[in-house]
Amino acid sequence: MTLLRHLVLIAVTFALSSFAAHAQTSRATFPSDFDRYVRYGIYDRGSSKEEAFALPDTIAIAKSGKALPVGTRLVLGIWTNSELTGYFVMEKGVDWGLEVADDKKTGDWHFQQFDINGQVSRGAIAERCESCHQGQASNDFMFTLDQMRAYIP
Ligand code: HEC
Repeated sequence: MTLLRHLVLIAVTFALSSFAAHAQTSRATFPSDFDRYVRYGIYDRGSSKEEAFALPDTIAIAKSGKALPVGTRLVLGIWTNSELTGYFVMEKGVDWGLEVADDKKTGDWHFQQFDINGQVSRGAIAERCESCHQGQASNDFMFTLDQMRAYIP
């Protein structure tokens, strides 16, 4: 077997096993009404860029100082080499935290990675969403709460 074929096999095996192990752990879905979402934050890092989106209602609730309710979805558009490559979504559900292992708990938020068509497309980073956002526990596990509150349409 050539080295390349070997590497491809390893990659496929890894992708399948990680999919099987985690397929049930995220209930977050891509919003069907994404066209109603508002871009409230841009994180421009040259050829890579991230854009944060939420519904106008979500932004209004954040501005009022209240906690974001169950049913809230937040979307982050991921740009690599000046191209939109996918979306990260976090969604809050009733008691969803109970389904998450202790070391991955982020309140009742679930995290998921999607391609540009809104289909689940998990890469290695999907295993790290929670660990990064756990550091933001005091901001409801969000990094962009201040930007959302400061957003002026
Ligand atoms: C290395 C740390 C890190 C990892 C891993 C990470 N994030 Fe984030 N996330 C951030 C930061 C920092 C921001 C703020 C935007 C920025 O600076 O680009 C953010 C913002 C977000 C937002 C906008 C709402 C908010 O929390 O402020 C969503 C949605 C999001 N991330 C989802 C995800 C998902 C889904 C994954 C896994 C596929 C993930 N993130 C992995 C650091 C991380």
